[in-house]
Amino acid sequence: MFYIGIDSGTQSTKAVVLDFESGEIVADASQAYGLIPNLPAGHLEQNPGDWIDAVKNTISSCLEQLGDRRSEVRGIGVSGQQHGLVVLDQNDEVVRPAKLWCDTSTTAQCDQFAEAFGGTAGLIEKAGNAMLSGYTIPKLLWLKQNEPDQFAKVKSVLLPHDYINFWLTGVKRMEFGDASGMGILNVRTRQWDNDLIDFVDPRVHEMLPELGSSNVAHGTVRSDLASGWGLGSDVVVSAGGGDNMMGAIGTGNISNGIITASFGTSGTLYGCAEKPIIDPNGEIAAFCDSTDHWLPLACTMNVTVVTEQVRGWFGWDLAELEKQVDSVPAGAGGVSFLPFLNGERTPNLPDGTGVIQGLNCSSGTPAHLARAAMEGATLGLAYGLRRFDALGLTPGEIRLTGGGSKSSVWRQMAADVFGVPVVGLATAEGAGLGGAIQAAHADGKGSYSDLCERFVSLDESTRCVPNPDLVPLYRDSLDRQIKLTEVLKAADLL
Ligand code: XUL
Repeated sequence: MFYIGIDSGTQSTKAVVLDFESGEIVADASQAYGLIPNLPAGHLEQNPGDWIDAVKNTISSCLEQLGDRRSEVRGIGVSGQQHGLVVLDQNDEVVRPAKLWCDTSTTAQCDQFAEAFGGTAGLIEKAGNAMLSGYTIPKLLWLKQNEPDQFAKVKSVLLPHDYINFWLTGVKRMEFGDASGMGILNVRTRQWDNDLIDFVDPRVHEMLPELGSSNVAHGTVRSDLASGWGLGSDVVVSAGGGDNMMGAIGTGNISNGIITASFGTSGTLYGCAEKPIIDPNGEIAAFCDSTDHWLPLACTMNVTVVTEQVRGWFGWDLAELEKQVDSVPAGAGGVSFLPFLNGERTPNLPDGTGVIQGLNCSSGTPAHLARAAMEGATLGLAYGLRRFDALGLTPGEIRLTGGGSKSSVWRQMAADVFGVPVVGLATAEGAGLGGAIQAAHADGKGSYSDLCERFVSLDESTRCVPNPDLVPLYRDSLDRQIKLTEVLKAADLL
């Protein structure tokens, strides 16, 4: 039997098919898409229809690869980019494009929440989390204040993976993990905070679908889709979840003590906790996970964004980028690259910009800029790791996932910058694999610990241990990155 995992990301959708008997990924497909072009700075939006098109095509392609064995597909699990706002009208048509997790146009709305509820401390008291512009609910307040006619049409609010689940099953539902990234869920009680909702509009209560456990299946594939695809009538669609929550399952991060770092468009560091880990500074998010536990998470908005930018400047392919970065010693000749090209969440600089500092005549080369970019993005995550450490979450090793983790140069840099060993997984597509495993769980095929034991394996050939000479060097680099950020921010230059 087979389980399909869908990873609906910001740059593409990838589908993988897990063979339950062999544990192999026996089919896969992907479809790329972009952001809506030419919007003002800070407005990052996509058409939810593009996600559906990609889900439809990638599933169809996987089923073609399975041929006659497609009838053995027993379940589908969907991972989605977190926080995006999908708004539907009374006919369940999309009202306007989705503002995404990386959209930073809502700083004014976050400030309004903070002013009304006693600042960061007051918001943390209510929900367990600060109100950051990446989260969903400030986007809805933005819609009400900036596009009241569109807001008036809204009858349902869904997150990206909820919308895909709705398309697959016809059922609207939210689960605790992704819902905890909206900014209105009290993560301690797993209940909506009515004051925060009313602050946007009392009508929002009716827009929210049923909320429940991530361990409850979302439904079954709609009969018209199932018959068109040649699937049985009882293919389960699991609850699905945010990409970090599903990446946690797909990297076996389902118990205390493991930390995963995802090097994707965004960078995230996350663990699994038996109780909410509340950061009084609001920098580590206290999210729920997809297994009814909690997922402390640090998110930076600039990881492969930065290396891709540099690659674009010089017209390199990935191998050339790797070669250029490797040709320059650690420290990039003293060049710092503040990576805030998309603004930033950790540290909270929604209007932040990138900065290159420390150039001289010998360090002003493409290779130095490339190394500085990769280091800057990695140091951004190390900032989150310091905060994890301050909250008592100190990893013995870090599991790497996401596209950036395929680079051997980057993996060694990660070990040196984090100061702990890192190891990749047999599949870098942790979120997609997490979706397939969750589908098997929803189909009653075992506990998460059994399923992860069976299907998640470390790739020992990718293990990197920190170079003791470079750990202090990068510790200084991080201090310098933090200082540069603070000085520029204080001078209103970021
Ligand atoms: C996490 C976050 C990002 C997105 C990327 O809070 O915003 O990791 O989920 O898809």
